Amino acid sequence: MLKVGICGGSGYTGSELVRILLSHPGVRITVITSERSRGRRVGSLFPHFTGLTGLSYESLIPEKIVKKADFFFMALPHAASQEAVSFFYKSGKHVCDLSADYRLKDPRVYETWYGVRHEHRTVLKRSVYGLPELYRSRIRRARLVANPGCFPTGAILGIYPLAKKGIVDPDSFVIDSKSGTSGAGRKADSSLSFCEVNESFRAYAIATHRHTPEIEQEVSRVAGKPVMVDFTPHLLPVNRGILSTVYARLTGKYTTEELLTLYSKTFGKEPFVRVLDEGRFPDIRNVRGSNFCDVGLKVNERTGTVIVVTAIDNLVKGASGQAVQNMNIMMGFEETSGLNHTPALP
Ligand SMILES: NC(=O)c1ccc[n+]([C@@H]2O[C@H](COP(=O)([O-])OP(=O)(O)OC[C@H]3O[C@@H](n4cnc5c(N)ncnc54)[C@H](OP(=O)(O)O)[C@@H]3O)[C@@H](O)[C@H]2O)c1
Repeated sequence: MLKVGICGGSGYTGSELVRILLSHPGVRITVITSERSRGRRVGSLFPHFTGLTGLSYESLIPEKIVKKADFFFMALPHAASQEAVSFFYKSGKHVCDLSADYRLKDPRVYETWYGVRHEHRTVLKRSVYGLPELYRSRIRRARLVANPGCFPTGAILGIYPLAKKGIVDPDSFVIDSKSGTSGAGRKADSSLSFCEVNESFRAYAIATHRHTPEIEQEVSRVAGKPVMVDFTPHLLPVNRGILSTVYARLTGKYTTEELLTLYSKTFGKEPFVRVLDEGRFPDIRNVRGSNFCDVGLKVNERTGTVIVVTAIDNLVKGASGQAVQNMNIMMGFEETSGLNHTPALP
């Protein structure tokens, strides 16, 4: 049994890690942290875990907990993760960081968008971007994986076949995404209270969202040249789910059928990407609670634009499910272990 630690286990992604790992046949959670809930039982903070785990929260003191686990999931806000990730990595542990601290390879880009200095640049150089559909073989050899952001996961998977094949103008990507409120985490925030979100729908962080440079980093790698994108997130009055609509200008004449064939070939062997038949498009409720990314597309032959739609559960393929997928690859488990959840309807 692999001994696993969850740092930041009182938040949404941390509790989702608990949910997934409790049904993983090869791991045992041996330590879980929270500052505000230290000493409390996990089942008392999250009653849906009652009777399923006897774990209690403890403080994140890396020197104290390092010996308790061999693999650490870090589910902390950005900047809070940097130091502990570096400590665990240097102690010889395997680490999957769900924050943004080790995703951007250029520390100057991180510092510009996140407003904090990167203090662990040598460790940053060792991190692998954890999108299995693009980097599976590198993840297999990695000891530090930077789990992708929720919006970038849906956006990059939607763009990848087009950018790799080079059949769109790489400067024409427009990404329009809508997320449920769990994307902002469990912490109190009055702008996310029920009355502020219910029956409302708004865009936010227009042209300034911190996931923009992450999408650009990965699309540039695939396209083989620097790429900039327009990315606008919106807040949906639902708990979970991200629907992303990506627009790009085709450089030649292609039909919807031809592009669906390209996507099916690209993702055909992927256990968690489902390319939908012509005329069908993703819906966030069809992936809820699962690690799937659903993809649909249509060519607008009148304008020469391809419109790709993806749907993920932000807490599963957009965070904790993908983190477990990465752990499975890093530690030699079956890639789908613990992740065979059928989406929950309604
Ligand atoms: N929510 C999503 O859909 C999503 C998707 C992808 C990635 N992410 C990323 O995953 C990370 C966690 O997100 P989340 O949504 O789970 O956040 P969250 O619900 O706000 O939970 C944050 C966790 O971090 C702990 N924490 C906060 N500040 C800390 C500090 N200075 N030292 C130690 N522990 C601290 C909190 O513990 P206390 O009990 O002490 O407050 C809590 O357990 C973030 O970096 C986020 O950007 C989130």
